[in-house]
Amino acid sequence: MFTKKLLHCFSKLETPFYYYDMELFHKSLKTLRKAADKYNCQVHYALKANANNRILEIIRDYGFGADCVSGNEVQKAIEVGFPLEKIVFAGVGKNNHEINYAIDHSIFGFNCESIEEIEIINDWAAKKQKIVPLSLRLNPDIDAVTHNFLTTGLNDNKFGIPLFYLEEAIEKLNQLNNVTLIGLHFHIGSQITSMEPYIMLCKRVNAIQDEIHEKYGLELPHINLGGGLGINYQDPNQELIPDFEKYFATIHQHLKVRNKQQVHFELGRSVVGQFGSLISRVLYIKKGINRQFAILDAGMSDLIRPALYGSYHKIENLSKQNKAIEGIKYDVVGPLCETSDSFNRDVELPLTERDDIIAIRSAGAYGEIMVSQYNLRNKPVAVYSDELIKKKEINGSVI
Ligand code: LLP
Repeated sequence: MFTKKLLHCFSKLETPFYYYDMELFHKSLKTLRKAADKYNCQVHYALKANANNRILEIIRDYGFGADCVSGNEVQKAIEVGFPLEKIVFAGVGKNNHEINYAIDHSIFGFNCESIEEIEIINDWAAKKQKIVPLSLRLNPDIDAVTHNFLTTGLNDNKFGIPLFYLEEAIEKLNQLNNVTLIGLHFHIGSQITSMEPYIMLCKRVNAIQDEIHEKYGLELPHINLGGGLGINYQDPNQELIPDFEKYFATIHQHLKVRNKQQVHFELGRSVVGQFGSLISRVLYIKKGINRQFAILDAGMSDLIRPALYGSYHKIENLSKQNKAIEGIKYDVVGPLCETSDSFNRDVELPLTERDDIIAIRSAGAYGEIMVSQYNLRNKPVAVYSDELIKKKEINGSVI
């Protein structure tokens, strides 16, 4: 993945930056397109994972839709040119401005997360004399078996309408004239690495759909199972492209799709996770009392996942790719004034020195999009593999 030539290019650029391997990206999208088409699934890419224009434009060109969780994401999806009928708007706290914006642009629909929200959307729709399509995001109370912070489908989570209130929600919808129920929506969490939670979700969804049919005679045209498919952070090279085929096949096997019903997904991490790396330079090697620190010029402001969730990202010293690991361990840390500004402790690397180029892998999703300017730091730029030559020409010898 990181050839000598590439390393040479990296060494001429200012660090840190996000590097995106566009060849891998296209391969992933092709694989996803093929698998989605095989099982007749509609995939809406979750913009929250990475919303760089270049990336969105390519995803749009592969025919995927957009899953948005803020008015600005809806606006971005529209500006980038995702077809309106492929844009969905989810989120637990949509404000008036966001609701109005989405109604005015007649997107595919809202995923509603509370009965109060449905009433507010109905009020605004009535003022505009429109009928707004919406799905109910239900909380199925299923454990996604992932990090606590990435679990969304349990009763204790703020997301979705608890099943207990489903009846009330449907009755409310029956009283309202300016919203129309088109489907059900679920999203149980993120970085889900086993198919078990999805199988449980399918069973729960089957039971809910049966009940809705029996009680209300409803056959809804859309069912949306959200996103969450995990990626291999431990050993990215083993699985550069997630097993989309297995994922859709599992759902296909367990979900009872109703008559003429369209199945939707909202994938984020699995679409963009593996094609991005944060590239950084070693500033100093500092000896501690019991430890040795490799201090990078990238920190938690550039990639917050390790500090926020204790997430693992594989760290590679690209300058010493062919050198043996000699049992030297480093705490790989950033330059910010926070103890949590650490990418990992006790990382085994070949002998590492100042100016070595370090890659922090699997950073394409929830990396650049979560950048902050804490400590008034600069934001890392994006470097796309297919533009690298151009970039070199523009920047000349940058450092
Ligand atoms: N749909 C909904 C309603 C969501 O809330 C999410 C993610 C997705 C789809 C996409 O999930 P994915 O396929 O990417 O797992 N910042 C965290 C991840 C937060 C995910 C939030 N919701 C991280 O860095 O791991």
